[in-house]
Formats: sequence, C-alpha cells, structure tokens
Amino acid sequence: MISLKQRTAETLSAIAEQAFSGASISSEEIYGMFEYPPDDAMGDLALPCFRLSKTLHRAPVQIADALAAGLADNPLFQKVEAVKGYLNFYFDGAALAAKVISEVTERGETYGSPLNGSGKTAVFDYSSPNVAKPFHIGHLGTTVIGHSLKLLHQFAGWNCVGINYLGDWGTQFGKLIVAYKKWGNKQEIEEGGIDRLVALYVRINNAIAEEEGTALADESRAEFHKLEMGDAENLALWKWFVEISLAEYEKTYRQLGITFDSYLGESFYTDKMPAQVQKLRDMGLLKIDDGASIVDLEEWGMPPCLILKRDGSTLYPTRDIAAAVYRKETYNFDRMVYVTSAQQSLHFRQWFKVVELMGYPWYDRLVHVPYGTVSLNGEKLATRTGNVVLLRDLFALAIEKVKEIMVEKNPALAGRDDIAEQVGVGAIVFHYLSNNRMRDINFVLEDALSFDGNTGPYVQYTYARTCSVLRKYEGEAKWKSQDATPEEAALAKTIALFPERVNAALEEYEPSIVTRYLLDLASAFNRFYHECPILSCEDSEKRESRVALTAAASRVLKTGLHLICMASPEQI
Ligand code: ARG
Repeated sequence: MISLKQRTAETLSAIAEQAFSGASISSEEIYGMFEYPPDDAMGDLALPCFRLSKTLHRAPVQIADALAAGLADNPLFQKVEAVKGYLNFYFDGAALAAKVISEVTERGETYGSPLNGSGKTAVFDYSSPNVAKPFHIGHLGTTVIGHSLKLLHQFAGWNCVGINYLGDWGTQFGKLIVAYKKWGNKQEIEEGGIDRLVALYVRINNAIAEEEGTALADESRAEFHKLEMGDAENLALWKWFVEISLAEYEKTYRQLGITFDSYLGESFYTDKMPAQVQKLRDMGLLKIDDGASIVDLEEWGMPPCLILKRDGSTLYPTRDIAAAVYRKETYNFDRMVYVTSAQQSLHFRQWFKVVELMGYPWYDRLVHVPYGTVSLNGEKLATRTGNVVLLRDLFALAIEKVKEIMVEKNPALAGRDDIAEQVGVGAIVFHYLSNNRMRDINFVLEDALSFDGNTGPYVQYTYARTCSVLRKYEGEAKWKSQDATPEEAALAKTIALFPERVNAALEEYEPSIVTRYLLDLASAFNRFYHECPILSCEDSEKRESRVALTAAASRVLKTGLHLICMASPEQI
C-alpha cells in the first residue's frame, strides 16, 4: 500500500537525487523522519531537514529550500513551506480527496493493507481457556486481541493459523472426576452444561481447602494419575467434560464471529514431551534441583525454568516447548504469537530462552503479546458460578441494554435481535480494544454502550449512516470538485491515514491503534455529514463528490471494524 506519507517520501527522495547530485537519501529514511505538526495551521505533515543535513552534506535551510522548490508544481500540495529548516506540507484538499477516493475504489476491501506478509505463515495461540473453569471477563483480552492480531496479519497477506490451546489437561481433572463421582449426576450436567461442571469444581476446591486431612487431594491426584495411564472410565469422563466446556465456549465465539483452525489443547502434547525432555538432558541443559529438573537461567537474570517436578510429572513450560516444536513441524511458521495476560510474561521469556538454548533456530520468531488486567465497574462482580464475571453474562447484559436503546431510537427496525447482538457484543469488544493493551482496564458498562460517546455503537451507527446515504444514490460516484471544504479535506486526510495506522497496529501488536483511528474517522465523517449537504446538495458535481467521499469513508469504516472483530450492520 502506498500511503500518502510514503508517496511524499518517494517524491522527495527523487527531488533530492536531482538537486544534490552525488548525495542521495532513500524514501524509507525520509519516511521515518516525517512528523505530524501539532496543529493544522502548521501544515498536514512536516519534515525536519536538519536530520537530512549529514547525509546530503548541505545546510538544513538549503535542503528545505531545494525540496520546496522541487515540489512547487506538485498538484497534491496546496503549498509547501520551508520554515527554519522545516519543510511544512499543506495538502490540497480536493487533490487529496480525488487521489484517496480513487485509491479506495481501486483497492476495495484491501485498501489499507500493507501486503507485506504475502506468503508468510503466522500462528496465533489465543483465548485458550482452562476447561471446566469459568470463561470470564479476564479471557476477553486474549480472545479479542488475539483474534484481531490474526485478522490484521491476514489483511497484510499472511497465511494465518489460529490455535485455541485449550487447558484440557492437569490435576484439575482429577479433582473434577472425584467431585463427579461423589456428587455428580449425568443428567444434571447434560442439562446444566458448564455451569454444573464449574459448580462441582468450586465445591471440591472448597472441600479440599476446608478438610483437615488431604484425603480428597490425594484421591484427586490418584484419579488424574489413572487418567494419565489411560483408564477407560476416566478417559471417557474427561472427554465428556471437554466437550461440554467447548460447546459453551463456542457459543461465545459465535457471538464474537471467531473461529479457530485448531483446538489442540495441552492434552495433545502428553506424548510429545519426553523427546524434548530427552533432548534437554542430552544437551546437558537439565539440572537437578531439590529433585526437580530445571534449566538454569541465572545468566539471563531469570529464575530457573521448571521442566519436571520431583515426581517426574511435566509442567506448563514443558508442554509449551513440545507444542512449539510440533507447530513448527506442522505449520513451518515464520512467526508465532502468544496472547496472554502480562502475569505470564516471565513464563514466556523463560521458555523462549530454553528453546534458544536447545538450538532451535526459530526461537526468535516467537512473540509474546501481553495485556493488563480487567475489572468491571471497579470491582469483580459476583455471579452464581463463582466470584467472577462470565463473558456470557456480560454479553447478555450488553445485548439487553442495546435492545432497549434501539427500541426507542428505531422502533421499526427489522431483524432487531441479530443487530442488537452485533451492537451489544461489539460495544464490549470496542470498549476493551480502545485502550493500549498493557493498561489495566476498568469496565464501565454504561460508557461502553452509549451511542454518543467514543464507543463501538457510535462507530457502527456512523457506518450505518454512510450506508443509508449510499442506498439512496444510484450509480458510481467519483470525486469531481475542484475545491474542498475544510470538512471534506479533513475527512479525506483521515481516510488517507488508514494504511499507516494499520501498519502501526501490526508492528506494535496493538489493535487499539485501529480502534482509536475508527473514532477519528467516525468523527471526521460526522462533522462532514453535518456541515456539508450530501444528497440534497444542488451542485451535481459536489453532490457526486460527496457521495464518493461517503463511499470511501464507508469502505474504511467497514474494513476497520472487521479488523477489530466487529460486525458492521447496515442499519441500526
Ligand atoms: N490456558 C492458559 C490460561 O488460561 C493460557 C494458555 C496460553 N498459551 C500458551 N501456549 N501457554 O492461563
């Protein structure tokens, strides 16, 4: 994608080549030097020329003057000013609008894509809830950041694999089996689903915490051991627990429009760990520490990575190492991205280091993307399934509230239930993804759901507004105006910024850059919409131009919403 900045950089590089024969500067270098002026009066883009001085062997003022002269006749700029060694660019609103609209029309749904991932493969490990434990608001981060990163990579031409690395193995299954055998009832669980499982799990944990001896804990360990040994009854129970949990998760994923390419969870790697443990041992990387096997990471300022417990059982890092090796063999990825809460950062740094020490050349293709914590209305609300807020309940609440607003705003709307789901769930997703991922978030439902604030409903509503304009116009529209109003120019400029923002979101693994961009775009569109009559404009050239601008804004809103896991209903 050639963004405006890039196009300007290329032009400048060519001018410099001509003006200062012998010395040259690449467009990439120039690109990196651009700044956005603090206010529009100082131009749309600025280049501090003192930074070019060294390369071009000229004084900054001389460079600025020469570049400005070279751009004098360029129609894209209304003016280019050289001020104290700075070059200030003022785009011509009409030329910019014409250019960006034709680009959006030409590229269609790929407008904004950097297309730099073509042919490469990226694996995403995200969501990954622990079976039979509640799927709560804390999982929102990994689920939507992970999926958005996958969509962004897909958009950039990567071949993407989404993996839900289910927490489907471990001693919790021993506990669950004991609890089920003691207090469970098949029919009840079949009817009550995951809630019944969670209730059993909570009950046994409480019982273990309360009881004097450790009989229940011992029993649980024994049942898990039986499961590991392939005991038919326990294996069947385990499979059933996993199925019930998955059915519940899938409901939530469906609401979010998320599908996975693989659900291979932790259990799958049981028989793949010994080979990696053996390799570690053969390479002399394993140390015995108080009976446990560890990899010493002191040299890298980290606590040791635990590979085997004293009783020889494997641990979380052991499984991650085996899974990474398996995925490399299976997908031959160029990049593998893990999205988890920042609490797991050390875990990832540790085992990434172990993979490097094991000599796997792809260790530097592993990326951990952490995020901060979430609370709701300042506290962790209690629900009937424990002391956490289930994603399902949060979504249901949001959908209900949105429905109330919609009944008031648009009583005649057809298909309200589906749209309310898209807007309600979207509101939560948008609200979550509007903060930098490392920030701790306090969720205030009212803020997320407002149709007027900086919210998902506001952006979706703006998109629906563009659709409503376009529905009423026949035929294809092009930009024909010779001049542009400030609102038209500002909207064109915002549309032109999209490729750059997508790129930044990808480079920083930060979907919130797209979210915040959408707010800018929606505001720019709404200012234009309120100030410039579109369909009712008498001048037919202007009318067509404004429809064309609306269509471009509409396209980018839709693409942007998609990239942050949101639906874009055409009517709300
Ligand atoms: N199941 C884990 C949890 O809920 C997250 C797994 C993250 N992925 C990984 N490969 N370790 O904490």
